[in-house]
Amino acid sequence: MAKVLELEQVYKAYRFGFIPKKKQILKGVSFYVNEGEIFGYLGPNGAGKTTTIKCILNLIFPDAGRITIFGEDSLKPKARQRVGFLPENPYFYDYLTGREFLTFYADLLGLHGQSKIEKIAYLLRLVGMERAADLQLRKYSRGMLQRIGLAQALLNDPALVILDEPMGGLDPIGRKEFRDIIVNLKKEGKTVFLSSHILQDIEMICDRVAIILAGEIINQGYLGDLISEKVLYTEVTIAGLPAAEFNHLGESVSTSGNRVLLKVYEESKIDQVISLVQQKKGKIISLMPRTETLEDIFVNMVKNQ
Ligand SMILES: Nc1ncnc2c1ncn2[C@@H]1O[C@H](COP(=O)(O)OP(=O)(O)OP(=O)(O)O)[C@@H](O)[C@H]1O
Ligand SMILES: [Mg+2]
Repeated sequence: MAKVLELEQVYKAYRFGFIPKKKQILKGVSFYVNEGEIFGYLGPNGAGKTTTIKCILNLIFPDAGRITIFGEDSLKPKARQRVGFLPENPYFYDYLTGREFLTFYADLLGLHGQSKIEKIAYLLRLVGMERAADLQLRKYSRGMLQRIGLAQALLNDPALVILDEPMGGLDPIGRKEFRDIIVNLKKEGKTVFLSSHILQDIEMICDRVAIILAGEIINQGYLGDLISEKVLYTEVTIAGLPAAEFNHLGESVSTSGNRVLLKVYEESKIDQVISLVQQKKGKIISLMPRTETLEDIFVNMVKNQ
């Protein structure tokens, strides 16, 4: 599989203050992104995600290490021609409409005539903004701004799309809609690199991930390999019976609404729980096997650092 992006031992320190102090931000970051995948770059606030992206895009220069995009050194302008970028906090001209905003950038890229009009119409459709296209940006919600920002990042028909915290500040519905758009980009054959500290978003759509903590990549790989399918325990919600009935079968606690939340660690005991509930005339509300999630892995890693 072709590597679209590769970082090898990238170091970056910032110097700040009157008597400059050095703060090492990236400490030998290495990872690669395969063609056609959605790659998640995951880490808590301040871990170095945006700094990494700035290095990839040549907005700042690493102190050491090598970055290649489509096999070309990232320092060459050619390497960046097929890259689209949506920054963490994009800046918008409030008084332009969505369509005018896209037209402004299309002009900068040298698009013109019918192809420009068609391109803009196509992108507005892709990000679901056709109906709001002629509204001023100052009237857009955060989710709408993110969408129009993404359309702008796609104007040059990039093969690699880099999104810095694209779901940040969106409500759950907005996040879901944005995830769908990202999955569509993949279907169109684009490679997507996205950073986030929201584990669920990454878990739902990414093929491979790298986890960065305090400037170091502490894990990377296919999601399927990082998350074991092993059932950790089964969570059973029961109504109409006291928690004490289930102490011998697992950890049970009473919750609101006269319910019991029971964690059953041994699979063999699940049948016993079900028959006990039937026998005592209670009711099973739900039964959910819990497998390890990216969140579990992430929390464990942060704890063990
Ligand atoms: N220009 C700068 N000068 C000095 N320190 C900086 C500068 N830019 C970033 N930093 C520091 O570098 C560290 C990493 O910042 P970065 O923005 O890369 O984190 P991040 O992973 O993107 O976090 P977030 O999730 O909050 O966006 C932080 O501790 C930040 O304070
Ligand atoms: Mg950031």
